[in-house]
Amino acid sequence: MADSMKKYILMHKNIPVADMELDEASCAISAIGHVYEERHVPVGIPVKKGMIDRGALNEWWKGRAIPASRAGIKSALVELNLSTTQKLLEKCLGLSLSDQYWICPADSGIQWSQVNFFDNPFSDDVGNILFGQGSSSDHMSLMSPDNTSDGWLKKKWKIIDGKRCLIKGGSGATQQEPYNEVLASRMMERLDIPHVKYSLLVEDDYPYSVCEDFITPQTDLISAWHIMQTVKKPNHVSVYQHYLDCCDANGIPDIRESLDRMMVLDYLIVNEDRHQNNFGVVRNAETLEYLGAAPLFDSGTALWFDKPTAMIGFKAKVGCKPFKNSHEEQIKLVSSFDWLNLNNLYGIDEELRELVRGSVFIDDARCDALCRALKDRVEALTEIVNSHRNLSPVDDFRSDVTENIAYSGSQEEEPEQFGAKE
Ligand SMILES: Nc1ncnc2c1ncn2[C@@H]1O[C@H](COP(=O)(O)OP(=O)(O)O)[C@@H](O)[C@H]1O
Ligand SMILES: [Mg+2]
Repeated sequence: MADSMKKYILMHKNIPVADMELDEASCAISAIGHVYEERHVPVGIPVKKGMIDRGALNEWWKGRAIPASRAGIKSALVELNLSTTQKLLEKCLGLSLSDQYWICPADSGIQWSQVNFFDNPFSDDVGNILFGQGSSSDHMSLMSPDNTSDGWLKKKWKIIDGKRCLIKGGSGATQQEPYNEVLASRMMERLDIPHVKYSLLVEDDYPYSVCEDFITPQTDLISAWHIMQTVKKPNHVSVYQHYLDCCDANGIPDIRESLDRMMVLDYLIVNEDRHQNNFGVVRNAETLEYLGAAPLFDSGTALWFDKPTAMIGFKAKVGCKPFKNSHEEQIKLVSSFDWLNLNNLYGIDEELRELVRGSVFIDDARCDALCRALKDRVEALTEIVNSHRNLSPVDDFRSDVTENIAYSGSQEEEPEQFGAKE
């Protein structure tokens, strides 16, 4: 049934990577043909004897679509009259603002320069629908980088003063994630940790975080999950060590140092969702040279964001990712605190108070509890740093995280599991 297939070339910016066919009903890759440039095959997808592993490429392709667990996605799909988020993926040729991959319809002659979202404007239609604001026009444009955005929170890309910016909402009764995101970015500023800068936007009383795209037409963001697929993980090796080994094998510089910084931040803010797609590395999209760890982004699932006020503080049982299942174990992996000056966080609790002032979601009692708990966290880390001086890092793999699962917000939703084989 040739007419139910559509032929494409998988492209990496201007470079043809492989011929492929998409099944129109499922939008899955039904066949992969000639491979033109093996080096440009997405990272972590096995290629054996010149053949791309179709299952793995399909997982990668599906992973570019909006996850089914995205807040509000069901009603958005109804409004768009589409059955799955994968259909949206085809509508924007798989183009993203986080890397340079796309699919070019065979014989169309379309050039990357004509379609990429870094240089070409895009419509707000899909973003507005994802935000439950309907569409402004009768002729909706589905050509949007929102179609390839990951993550559970409501979000949209918007061009603000010529810059591509990601606007992200919060969840639940406290809508705390945008405040956390901004606070985390200010803490990293003070601690000199490379990070994405987030600012706060309040619209109709709802908070949003806004950050600029940190990827350019010259770079690709590659998630830690895909980097971890480049080498088979031996059973006796911890997740942490495996990531270091993979980065080493790929020549990615300074990863131990950047993980030290990430684990310190996540300890301080009690981040519960640093799964393997919430951090990664950046490479040059043309030379394929790895530049190093990506600046830290997505730190909103922290500071007891989904817990009632009475549970804020040390007594609450909270999870930890990506390496160990408790922050107490994970912080032991830090190889050096020599770079860390916790005195720079002096007054950070008051900065948090200022940030949430006027919020209709975070009342005074919650604000007080958060400020106190954050201060306690800084003190706890100070003690750890002091007692760490003469010890070497501990990597006890009995407390390893065993699955890479993202927080999905509601108990009814299926958890979003990365890399699960069909
Ligand atoms: N500033 C940015 N520049 C480029 N890509 C980004 C940026 N922020 C996020 N992304 C990409 O978008 C994805 C979703 O964003 P994220 O902040 O993780 O949302 P969520 O909180 O819903 O998980 C990320 O996994 C990353 O691939
Ligand atoms: Mg995320």
